Amino acid sequence: MEKQTKIKVRNLDLFYGANHALKNVNMDIKEKSVTAFIGPSGCGKSTFLKTLNRMNDLVDSVKIDGLVELDNENIYGEDVDTTLLRKKIGMVFQQPNPFPMSIYDNIAYGPRVHGIKDKNKLDRIVEESLRGAAIFDEVKDRLKKSALGLSGGQQQRICIARALAVQPDVLLMDEPTSALDPISTAKIEELMDELKKKYTVVVVTHNMQQAVRVSDETAFFLVGEMVEFNRTKDLFAYPKDKRTEDYITGRFG
Ligand SMILES: Nc1ncnc2c1ncn2[C@@H]1O[C@H](COP(=O)(O)OP(=O)(O)OP(=O)(O)O)[C@@H](O)[C@H]1O
Ligand SMILES: [Mg+2]
Repeated sequence: MEKQTKIKVRNLDLFYGANHALKNVNMDIKEKSVTAFIGPSGCGKSTFLKTLNRMNDLVDSVKIDGLVELDNENIYGEDVDTTLLRKKIGMVFQQPNPFPMSIYDNIAYGPRVHGIKDKNKLDRIVEESLRGAAIFDEVKDRLKKSALGLSGGQQQRICIARALAVQPDVLLMDEPTSALDPISTAKIEELMDELKKKYTVVVVTHNMQQAVRVSDETAFFLVGEMVEFNRTKDLFAYPKDKRTEDYITGRFG
């Protein structure tokens, strides 16, 4: 069965002051799949990722034109509540950034903000989220200990669990493994395969092998332009654009 479009982007332009950082980007991101963004440093991957949950709203000089829809609704509409939007579209960053509090409180933080107080309910959410991020067994005996005492790879999975705890639909990940060792990286890559059964996952990566391993579709960006978007295996096997071919064969970037 053909997967539905989860996020639809049309004619998206973004300016940081005079810097035209995204140029007429169009994309359909499919539900319950992994979409990868690749391209050289500064090409706009993070900027584009952040337009998908309005994180760029926090930047003063930013100006955005065009359409971004989640489930056919314009996320830049006037009555959109950005807190709720970011509950639906969670984000994980390059550097693991757990809060300086216990593992339990890290995961319970979002649900508490959204009004959940019942202890049993929170216990259940914490366990399910940690299981969903493939970290429960490693931390179940130290839930009350500080999350900062975990390894980088464990911290990153705590951050994924924290994102899952508010029941998002979409998970945005900006180079989630670039600060991690190979074993932790492999764990997160395996996890992405599980996550896409329930969530729509969008991942920025500098590692083309990673894009090949984890993603169903890949978009290649170059200086603010989305050059090519295709099924991952086709994009890497039969790039249509010369610039894509040059990049994936390592001629630049
Ligand atoms: N907050 C900001 N204010 C002004 N300009 C910005 C801001 N963030 C990014 N830019 C500029 O926008 C362009 C795209 O940057 P972006 O961070 O999206 O690239 P990237 O593809 O994620 O790069 P990298 O691979 O190095 O993370 C760059 O020219 C960058 O300098
Ligand atoms: Mg970036």
